[in-house]
Amino acid sequence: MTPVTFNNNVLRDGHQSLAATRMKTEQMLPVCETLDNWGFGALETWGGATIDSGLRFLDEFPFDRLDALKKACPKTPHMMLLRGQNIVQYAHFPDDVVEAFIKTSAKHGMNIFRIFDALNDARNMKCAIDACKKAKATAHGTICYTSSPVHSVEKFIEMGKELAEMGCDGIVIKDMAGLIPPMDASAIVSALKKAITIPVWIHTHDTAGLGASTYMAAIDAGVDAIDLSVSPFANGTGQPDVVRMLALMKDHPRCPKVSDSQMADLKEMRLHLEKVYKELDSFTSHQNEIVDSDTLEYQVPGGMLSNFRTQLKEQKMEDKFDEVFREIPVVREALGWIPLVTPTSQIVGMQAFLNVKFGRWKQISPQAADIALGYYGRTPAPVSEEIQKIAEKQMGKAPITCRPVEAPNAEHKHMEDLRKELKAKKMPSDDEHCVIHAMFPAQLEQHYKNKEKPKAGVGMPDKVAAPAPAKAAPVAQTSAPLSENARRYALTINGEAMEVQVEELS
Ligand code: CO
Repeated sequence: MTPVTFNNNVLRDGHQSLAATRMKTEQMLPVCETLDNWGFGALETWGGATIDSGLRFLDEFPFDRLDALKKACPKTPHMMLLRGQNIVQYAHFPDDVVEAFIKTSAKHGMNIFRIFDALNDARNMKCAIDACKKAKATAHGTICYTSSPVHSVEKFIEMGKELAEMGCDGIVIKDMAGLIPPMDASAIVSALKKAITIPVWIHTHDTAGLGASTYMAAIDAGVDAIDLSVSPFANGTGQPDVVRMLALMKDHPRCPKVSDSQMADLKEMRLHLEKVYKELDSFTSHQNEIVDSDTLEYQVPGGMLSNFRTQLKEQKMEDKFDEVFREIPVVREALGWIPLVTPTSQIVGMQAFLNVKFGRWKQISPQAADIALGYYGRTPAPVSEEIQKIAEKQMGKAPITCRPVEAPNAEHKHMEDLRKELKAKKMPSDDEHCVIHAMFPAQLEQHYKNKEKPKAGVGMPDKVAAPAPAKAAPVAQTSAPLSENARRYALTINGEAMEVQVEELS
């Protein structure tokens, strides 16, 4: 029997899930050689929140990190998480920007693009998949797992087939919340393996304590690869640890053969990463390290839970925790049972909060209104007509059914516009800077200014040592200016910031 392939996600999901995406490149480099030589199928090193967080909090230019990690891990394929038409942001970007991002990332050594859409709308993934093929990179079509009255094994298989037909080189079942029960994973994997011929991978989290058991069931069902991590950036809200998975798989016919020296290497990596974990102390939390029963009760990602706990406290709404979480299925149903993954987890979380704070649907965030109007894509089930009407009135625009990036009156900055803007700012205007400028203009400019400053050795705040800002900086695409009695709410969910402005009802 073919051994299952182990991937390693410590340099991306590991610290995104357990340390608010704050691991610096220099903290990664000491384990790179060992990681690269270990025999993993792929290393997740970039993408997801690492690009935003690295630029925003660590003052690292994203492509510099990719170059450094590629140089330090030249043998194993690198993989990244890409939100389809959103690239690594929340908004939709025009096709030429998506294409340029993928082409440029592939040029810097990115091998596998794990492409998903928060609504599981494959139309939002097509441009990225095509761009991967063009760049001779590997396109992995990703299905976001979620449970709802409208989701079934058949529905996921349909999507798997659609992605395979679109030319994907592999399919990934992405269980961002760690909520997939082992038997569900088994059913989806076996049905996919029968329906398609390309490899099937699975990605989960150990938030609810299911991760390793889910992997076992998926392995028995024939999954080709699983995502793991290295402790202490493993388990809890992260991926199961390699050592633990090996122990669980002992004598299993698909257990990879691992030598004593490989075991020693795992320990060596863990010892270094334990030091890093201590250095990132202000971003780690006990809550993320344990099995979170609330995640099973509320069926939401662990990251949402931990951030909400903190932020409801700041709003002096701790007593409303249960109420806010009970509101999540109400919001999901109204918005067509969308999965909870960036950015929909932030949007649904925020709307649940607004419903509890101001009364149900008294305030609708612009983002939730956009989902209701089709501006994020096709929802798994129809949106509530009542909510769509409120949204239409509030946003002053009609619902759409086309691919969101082709929405009428959509204002897009294309590569040539971005280049012009950078030139006007006297900043570098190569493709690398253009694609980052498209997504994080303010952060890129700040990074550039910091770089230009003479290095006096003083005055630069130590950003890593500072505590996590409770209220995150606004994301790039802010909405209309605030009126006098408007209030800003910022929530950080899954390590990613989102801000909403609402008129306080008096
Ligand atoms: Co994940």
